[in-house]
This record gives sequence, structure tokens and C-alpha cells, in this order.
Amino acid sequence: MVRSPMVVSLIGSLAVSNAIPTGDLPLSEPVVAERMEAQPAVSYWTPPLKSNIQFVLTGIPDVAENYIRPKVGIYEIDMFYTPEATIRKMNELGQKVICYFSAATAENWRDDYKNFQKADLGLELPDWPGEKYLDIRRDNVFKVISKRIDLAAKKGCNAIEPDNVDVYSNDNGFKPAIVPDDTVKYLHKVSAYARSLNMSVGIKNCIEILGPIFDDVDFAISEQCVQYHNCTAYTNFTTAPRANTIGKPVFEVEYVNYTYTGEWSDDGVALQPELFKTKNVDFPGLTNEKLRRKLCNLDEPGVTVDKPYLKINTIIKTLDLDGFIMFCDGKVEKTKTKDVGQRRGAPGKMLRRSWVREKEWRRMGGT
Ligand SMILES: *[C@@H]1O[C@H](CO)[C@@H](O)[C@H](O)[C@H]1NC(C)=O
Ligand SMILES: *[C@@H]1O[C@H](CO)[C@@H](O)[C@H](O)[C@H]1NC(C)=O
Ligand SMILES: *[C@@H]1O[C@H](CO)[C@@H](O)[C@H](O)[C@H]1NC(C)=O
Ligand SMILES: *[C@@H]1O[C@H](CO)[C@@H](O)[C@H](O)[C@H]1NC(C)=O
Repeated sequence: MVRSPMVVSLIGSLAVSNAIPTGDLPLSEPVVAERMEAQPAVSYWTPPLKSNIQFVLTGIPDVAENYIRPKVGIYEIDMFYTPEATIRKMNELGQKVICYFSAATAENWRDDYKNFQKADLGLELPDWPGEKYLDIRRDNVFKVISKRIDLAAKKGCNAIEPDNVDVYSNDNGFKPAIVPDDTVKYLHKVSAYARSLNMSVGIKNCIEILGPIFDDVDFAISEQCVQYHNCTAYTNFTTAPRANTIGKPVFEVEYVNYTYTGEWSDDGVALQPELFKTKNVDFPGLTNEKLRRKLCNLDEPGVTVDKPYLKINTIIKTLDLDGFIMFCDGKVEKTKTKDVGQRRGAPGKMLRRSWVREKEWRRMGGT
């Protein structure tokens, strides 16, 4: 095993010339400054347009030894399972924390499940016993979810990601049908409330409503826009959509399977990234390098690691969203995580299934 000081030089020698900082280096400061000038003053933190991010939704970051890697500046974690002390420690270690929770499905193992009324509940999600769609038009749903937002604020979250709000695109059983505009109205309330508690708000997927929701959110999270050929949907999000606005950040995750036969440093840096073998079911037969270039849109004209396609911030993860992260420059790290016995949505199914596009879970090898 190699200790940290040597890691730095070894990684330095492996890095490609146009690498963006993925270690302990500061984020792109000119971009941050520009954004702060253009933005109306708000008290809550909002993410910079250009930044890496780490998602840890299987296990929670283990900060017991007072360090966290990679120091990307922004982490998204599970709001229910991550203790307040961990979130506050992550802040102390310089990492802003986005707290994920479901805002449009009811999971019958949550403490607050009993507060939903019968009329709030729609169909059970296919393959996911115990989890039902919520009628986001109902006042009681907002009431229960606003308590979740209270909890996020109490725990010290810097932002929230209210998930599953694309309920309009699923077979949910509600009549009359929930339409995209219902999601817009619902997110408007969710967002106003979260912001009043000093947290910013992100929208996940929901590409159909990125325009109408623009003012109500502070960033977007995208899954598999390369795989779905939908990255251009974010054009008007990362660049100013109209006068007196500026673009907002998009954090994009693409999935791979991998095998690795090399060593890790003590603090979780892959010391031989060239020994990774990555695979993606939709882009078969590509070498590691070609697959990474594909998933990071690096073959688009004028795009480099430093000047990402449509200003979208991409990272590469496995479907179970554990500590593994591959950056667009090819570096790989592993956040140290702690198993907290996350309750699974169904026997043998992983908790954050809901984070992954519903219909994709099985096709992508989720178990
Ligand atoms: C709101 O959040 C910002 C950024 O995290 C922090 O600096 C500020 O102290 C917070 N304000 C309140 C009232 O908690
Ligand atoms: C997303 O991509 C699909 C094809 O993969 C296409 O049918 C759809 O119109 C796209 N949506 C947007 C908003 O770009
Ligand atoms: C971006 O906005 C322009 C002007 O409103 C519109 O014509 C275009 O379709 C939008 N692009 C996307 C991808 O939504
Ligand atoms: C990962 O491997 C499994 C099992 O072979 C496969 O079903 C799945 O599609 C793969 N996932 C990706 C992202 O390629």
C-alpha cells in the first residue's frame, strides 16, 4: 500500500494533460465568482456551474477518521440514513451536502408512512412491494413531505433532491391523470419551503419540465442522458434561458460495470486506472478509453475535460451508486463508506432503485 504523499505524485504522472482537479484542488474559482456576481443574493448555498460531484446512496460516507475522498466539493447522500453528525462533519471537511429523499412515493417502512392518507396513495410500483405513487396534488402529501424537508434542514443539509417527482410519466393509477404541470406546481411549493429553510433544490431527470421549473430549482441531476440521447434537453438550463438569468449546473451520471485488478491507496485512490475494464450494455465492445470518451461526450466538437459538452458535469458510477467514482479524465477513486443496513425496497432489491430510472433497473443489471 502506498501512503498519501506518494499517491499524489503517482497520480500526477498518470493524469492526462487536460485533467480537471479531482483531488483536493479548489473548484474552478473564476466560474464560481462569475456566477455569484450574476446571481441575485440568496442566503442558501447553490452549487457552482462547473464542479464535480460524488453520489453515495449505497452506504453512507465514513468520516470517522476525519477525512473524505474525493474532495469534489459536493456530495449527494441519503437523507434518512445519514446522521446529522456525518453531514456536519462533511461540511467541516469542505463538502457541501445534497440530501436525497423520495418526495413522490410512499415507502411503507418509513417512520412517517402512517401520516399518508388512503387517498394520497396510488398504485404500487411494479416489482417494488411496499412502495406506492403519491398524489402530489393533495395537500396532505405536501404536509408529510414538508416534514421531510424540516428533517433535512435539521440535519444540516445544504440542498435537497426531492426524487420521483416525474410521477406523471409512470402508470400511477390516479384519475384524473397527473400531468407535468402538476409536478411543476408541486415542486414550486417544495422549493419555496426548502429555500425558506436555507437549502437549495435540485430536479432529477424530468426533462419535459426543465423550462417551466427553471426558477424554482438551483441545479439539475441527470441520469444516463448520453445513453438516452437526451443531453441536449439541458441546453437552456446550463446557459441563460432568457434575459437576466444565468445558467444553472447539471450533474450527470452514466453507469458502467467494471472489473479492476490493480491496487488502491489507503485513502481510496485507484493506483492503476489503466487496469480498469469498464462495460456499458448500450455501448458494447468499446475499449475503456473509448467508452469513457463516449459517456463524457468527449468526442463532440470542441469538447475537452475542462470544457464539457453543453457545460454538463459528468461522472461515471456503477448502478448501485456506492463509493466508486470514475472522472472524465480517467482517474478513479473510492469514497470510504459505512454500511448502515439500509432497508431494501423489496427482497433482494437495492434501496436506491428509485434513484435509477424505473424501467432501466433490471436491464442495467440491478439485482
Ligand atoms: C444559510 O446557508 C449559508 C450557506 O450554507 C450559511 O452561510 C448561512 O449561515 C445560513 N444561514 C442561516 C440563517 O442558517
Ligand atoms: C429524449 O430522447 C428520446 C429518444 O431517446 C426522444 O424520443 C425524446 O424526445 C427526447 N426528449 C427530449 C426532451 O429531448
Ligand atoms: C431552448 O429555448 C429555445 C427558445 O425558447 C427553444 O426554441 C428551444 O427549443 C429550447 N431548447 C430545448 C432543448 O429545450
Ligand atoms: C452489467 O452487467 C449485467 C450482467 O451481465 C448486465 O445485465 C448489465 O446490463 C450491465 N450493466 C451495464 C451498465 O452495462
